[in-house]
Amino acid sequence: MIEKTIIALRLEAEKELAACTDASGVEALKVKFLGKKGRIAGLMMSLKDAPKEERPALGMQINELKVALEQQISSTHLRFESEELACRLAKEVMDVTLPGRRAHLGREHIITKTINEAIDILVGMGFSVQYGPDIESDFYNFEALNFSEDHPAREMHDTYYISKQFCLRTHTSNTQVRVMESSTLPIRIIAPGKCFRNEDVSARSHVQFNQVEGLYIDEEVTFADLLQTLQEFFTQFFGQSVQLRHRPSYFPFVEPGMEVDLHCLECGGKGCSLCKQSGWLEVAGAGMVHPEVLKSGGIDPEVHQGYAWGLGIERLALLRSGIKDIRLFLENDVRFLDQF
Ligand code: PHE
Repeated sequence: MIEKTIIALRLEAEKELAACTDASGVEALKVKFLGKKGRIAGLMMSLKDAPKEERPALGMQINELKVALEQQISSTHLRFESEELACRLAKEVMDVTLPGRRAHLGREHIITKTINEAIDILVGMGFSVQYGPDIESDFYNFEALNFSEDHPAREMHDTYYISKQFCLRTHTSNTQVRVMESSTLPIRIIAPGKCFRNEDVSARSHVQFNQVEGLYIDEEVTFADLLQTLQEFFTQFFGQSVQLRHRPSYFPFVEPGMEVDLHCLECGGKGCSLCKQSGWLEVAGAGMVHPEVLKSGGIDPEVHQGYAWGLGIERLALLRSGIKDIRLFLENDVRFLDQF
């Protein structure tokens, strides 16, 4: 009886083993046949029902079956395991010949680039760089610059006030008196930075823009020095000789004051949409530092004179790259920014 069961069990185990498709199936099979409560163990238990004299021979047969099954199961298990490993490795394999994914590199914004270029040129001409605060007191932004409290020119500035006393600076001229107070003479500085004015946003003006201020104070500084310095700067910046035009203009902190126009490079002066058909583009305000401003900065106007300018950086960038709309600088569209 038991002998038959042994043979049937061997056939059943071999058949099930052959049907296994993976290592975990083989593991389950091992538990089923060879486990503590498995089929082989059950067979051993049933020996007690066999006639005593047959038990040793049957016991041996069961043991042989056990050893044979152990071998078959472990070799099948090993085979599946190595197949599965090979399969996993094949999936993980890296093809080093595939083209890589290009990382998108950032770059300097065209305005940052333009400011840095202007700084490089002016530093090369002997100016050093100073920075003033974006949030400024009414004193340095206006009062020290000869704008009295009720001065009508304050209205031209469309100021963003933060409190009664503080505003976002409307021009980089806020650095002028700060520098005068903290420097020894002669002073020859530039001050780049952001400015803010509550203006209608259009293709030509924005609420936020950049200027580079220039300030030179010494004995015997003349208007001709100012004109010559600006001419040299623009020639270097545009890499060609450019034609400048000077129009008398009013700023409370300079006397005389002027606006500097550049012959439109886009149309060669014929008139186009960039220069509003005039052939000229305004790029800076400038003039001789007003004696009252020198006094605000603790400098004796009888001994020292100075000139100052405020360059519009966006204008320079527009002109040189033929950009038609100032709003593009602040929209952060990489299709636009990638071109520069
Ligand atoms: N601060 C003036 C402006 O923003 C420009 C300027 C600077 C004019 C220095 C004269 C001297 O319009």
